[in-house]
Amino acid sequence: MTIIAPSILSADFARLGEEVREVETHGADWIHIDIMDGQYVPNLTFGPPVVAAIRSYTKLPFDVHLMVNTPERLLDDLVKAGADRITVHAEACVHLHRTVHAIRELGLKAGVALNPHTPLSVLDYVLDDLDLVLIMTVNPGFGGQSFIPAMLPKIRALREELNRRGRTEAHIEVDGGINGETAKLVAEAGANALVAGNYIFGQQDRSSAISTLRAAAQS
Ligand code: DX5
Ligand code: ZN
Repeated sequence: MTIIAPSILSADFARLGEEVREVETHGADWIHIDIMDGQYVPNLTFGPPVVAAIRSYTKLPFDVHLMVNTPERLLDDLVKAGADRITVHAEACVHLHRTVHAIRELGLKAGVALNPHTPLSVLDYVLDDLDLVLIMTVNPGFGGQSFIPAMLPKIRALREELNRRGRTEAHIEVDGGINGETAKLVAEAGANALVAGNYIFGQQDRSSAISTLRAAAQS
């Protein structure tokens, strides 16, 4: 079963609560929340208070993607704000193993995101501790960019490695440029959680966008 995670980066920020409620009604599985600090990535979004403000609008898990330097400093506040899963960038963590374990010790699911240029090998010694790997299929920072096809063999290699380790329950999430066509490609390669911002929030009919993604992934 494919997980569909609408990214609120492309939602109407003035109506964030209602946007989140709407995608839940239309069958979304997780809410993907992009936190950017204007340092690690050029863009700046919002922080834990905004996450807390939308928590009461949905029961769906909050899948928080931290595009920030030293993400450890936000963990406690994000737990209080209602995060369920936290993904940090390998490139933003000096002590990645420590940060992953800090997330798990707070009782949350831990993920690591890899930029397009980052090899899978950075995960060799933490992969067994992860609930999720986020393969960036664009360079992080902005919605509405084009999917990078060179990420398909990376997804395939990661799925093989997870199978080899017997970690069939670990999620491979993809983020960036996911639409009705690319959803099929990434799912074939082994991704089971699809983030989509522009494709879902850029259409009036969110219900059909979500079902198109799900059908494409399962075709
Ligand atoms: C990009 C963010 C994504 C973004 C994806 O840095 O991590 O979650 O919202 O946007 P789309 O789906 O529009 O490419
Ligand atoms: Zn994201």
